[in-house]
Amino acid sequence: MANPPCILLGVTGSIAAYRAAELVRLMIVRGWDVHVIMTRSATEFVGKLTFQTLSRHPVGVEQWGDEANWRPEHIALADRADVFVIAPCTANVMAKLACGIADDLLTSTVLACQAPLVVAPAMNVHMWEHPATQANLKILQARGVRMIDVAEGDLACGYQGKGRLAPVDGIVEVVQGVLDSRGSKP
Ligand SMILES: Cc1cc2nc3c(=O)[nH]c(=O)nc-3n(C[C@H](O)[C@H](O)[C@H](O)COP(=O)(O)O)c2cc1C
Repeated sequence: MANPPCILLGVTGSIAAYRAAELVRLMIVRGWDVHVIMTRSATEFVGKLTFQTLSRHPVGVEQWGDEANWRPEHIALADRADVFVIAPCTANVMAKLACGIADDLLTSTVLACQAPLVVAPAMNVHMWEHPATQANLKILQARGVRMIDVAEGDLACGYQGKGRLAPVDGIVEVVQGVLDSRGSKP
């Protein structure tokens, strides 16, 4: 039997980070091999243990220290990945991706990975509408990154408008579409 699709999922420091837990669950239901990398900020919102348990793999956060032995494994995963997904993606990580900054485990693994990149942003409406974020969005789209549009509605910050993480089942469908177009079906 062919290996299941290997998905790298980056989770960043957004209030929507808890919704990535359901995203992992839906991916596992599809039979995908899911490996999660969190930013340090993301761990302020959801514990590593949640993603470790749902994905059935260790979760990477740190580049240095006790986890360092595990880093080569992540570089190996960057080579093996069929799709790299970042959901939710903060304004900060969008900006880093646009500039090619690689100052933590997630962003350095993104640069090391040649698989298609799917990014689902989530942020406050003013962060989303900020010219810097909109300029970064255009840069990433022009580079071929599959940007999933934010949803509109009530935001955790109390505002109304665009900025919500897209529905997670829709994110899974986008990833499935990318896998199908690469001929890598579960
Ligand atoms: C309660 C709270 C919620 C936040 N939610 C978001 C968010 O949804 N999107 C975003 O871009 N930043 C959000 N931030 C700000 C980020 O956490 C902050 O920019 C952080 O540096 C992002 O780190 P990372 O991009 O490395 O994960 C939030 C901050 C706090 C305190």
